[in-house]
Amino acid sequence: MCGIVGYIGNEQAAPILLEGLSKLEYRGYDSAGVAVCDGNSVAIEKAVGKLLNLSDKISGGDALKGTKGIGHTRWATHGKPTKANAHPHFSERFIIVHNGIIENEEALRHHYLKDTEFLSDTDTEVIAHLLQKFTDSGETTPVAIQHIISELEGSYALAIIDKNEPDLLYAVKNKSPLLIGHGDDFNMIGSDAMAMISKTSQFYEINDKEYAILSCKGVEIYTGYGQKIERDTYKAELDVSDTEKGTYPHYMLKEIEEQPAVIRRILKEYSKNTGELEIDTKIIEDIRACDKIYIVACGTSYHAGIVGKQLIEHIANVPTEACIASEFVYNMPLLSKKPMFIFISQSGETADCRAVLVKVKEMGFKTLTITNVNGSTLSREADHTLLLYAGPEIAVASTKAYTAQIAVLALLASQIKNTININLNYELSKVSNVIEALCTDRDKYSLLARDYLTGARNCFYIGRALDYYVCLEASLKLKEISYIQTEGFAAGELKHGTIALIENNTPVISIISQENINLNTRSNIKEVKSRGAHVLTISTKSLSSQKDNIIVNDVHEMLTPLVMVVPAQYLAYYAALQKGCDIDKPRNLAKSVTVE
Ligand code: M6R
Repeated sequence: MCGIVGYIGNEQAAPILLEGLSKLEYRGYDSAGVAVCDGNSVAIEKAVGKLLNLSDKISGGDALKGTKGIGHTRWATHGKPTKANAHPHFSERFIIVHNGIIENEEALRHHYLKDTEFLSDTDTEVIAHLLQKFTDSGETTPVAIQHIISELEGSYALAIIDKNEPDLLYAVKNKSPLLIGHGDDFNMIGSDAMAMISKTSQFYEINDKEYAILSCKGVEIYTGYGQKIERDTYKAELDVSDTEKGTYPHYMLKEIEEQPAVIRRILKEYSKNTGELEIDTKIIEDIRACDKIYIVACGTSYHAGIVGKQLIEHIANVPTEACIASEFVYNMPLLSKKPMFIFISQSGETADCRAVLVKVKEMGFKTLTITNVNGSTLSREADHTLLLYAGPEIAVASTKAYTAQIAVLALLASQIKNTININLNYELSKVSNVIEALCTDRDKYSLLARDYLTGARNCFYIGRALDYYVCLEASLKLKEISYIQTEGFAAGELKHGTIALIENNTPVISIISQENINLNTRSNIKEVKSRGAHVLTISTKSLSSQKDNIIVNDVHEMLTPLVMVVPAQYLAYYAALQKGCDIDKPRNLAKSVTVE
């Protein structure tokens, strides 16, 4: 979703802003803009479409002189993706960029800004005019900021230029992600650390309803009521090269092929000196004290969560429910007496998850976040955090985070109580080797994608039990990047309706890794074949039959999702590639979904 960068220092700001915005491109956007301040004059430039369009317009930043500025990539929420709606937005004195949604913008327009002429359809412009209105009535800028914090309902991360204060930059945050980057003679604002990591690895957290005043030399952080807060910086453990594509044509391909290394890293990070795996005992104690676990997540992370439910129930014998965050928050099921909540989120910023986290914390329940981003909102606000150690995931389509989430959930389950005596160190090492072997078959996946998917209008993934859960993830992967309408079905459910959709040559991809239902799925394959389906089968070696298209080496039966998903990730990648789709940035999607 929208990305924000701000810079105040001694270097030319525009190239720094463009470079920061390029690091936020992965979040998804449809227009971009910058405002650069040279003394008291501010130049604003915007362009619809790729960041390159904006960069070309301002000669890579050279055309805009000034050492202070703010930049934005916009993912449209209020109003179409047009130049007029692109940020920055401004009033006479204030220029702002915004990530989030102001829920009471109509009421604010009506109450304060009846006579104001607006140039865009955005809720953001309302904020610029409110600041103007409040300062016109005699408030200082900090007081006007406190005033908007008390008035605005919804989510906002803001970077603000006040034309009357050439040596300062302002940042405000509520619910949307925002960090302050700190350097020797400069300071920055960014939606995440990646946007600033080439300049600094020192960051200040800024919490909800706080604001910051930045100058070249320092950063002051205040509560929404104007009380100064003393806060230390923290160091982000991020390597700039982790955010580069290297020789890979796409981040998605790179991230698929990083999966063996990610599994090995998880084993290393969660190992004691003795080599034994361990998880913080406080987390384990809290889980052991609960009577039921609720896993809350969205999209791919939810798909990892349903596998996690199986793992925790099967390995640790603790009742567990996996819930879609956006459903759970407004339609909460009857909870057990002593629940514990596990939030799974690659980004750690997903607004739907955060809405649940805020609610269950108010209810006094214990919370754990499993995330890839240390210091992210969900990580900071939960009682406990477990990190995925997957390295930055840039492609919108999540791949290595999914496998990392399942690996960490398996580890967690085995530490709660290992009722089936699974040797996870050994089993996950094996998984890592099996994925590595799968990664040597790129040509095969490319040919299969061409034969089965590239010209297809729709597609079905079928499987049972854990295989069904992989089907849900596999179908999300294929649809989100190739735009082929794909659904994942429990194979046994086909005959209850869906089989009516099978026509001559409809691609059906079956996944078989579970011994107890292997033969049932084979029967379902026969049923769809006899109705004309073009069936591609992915099976494990011990359950394979001669004509299966992709055969995956065996791993522990509870861990099969970790390996069965990999061919499906490749099939999605190659189908999208052959269709000429924008693989790393699929249409309409954002990497970090920071609005509900
Ligand atoms: O950052 P999160 O894991 O919380 O994100 C959740 C979903 O938005 C995400 O998994 C989404 O479904 C991916 N695009 C799927 O590839």
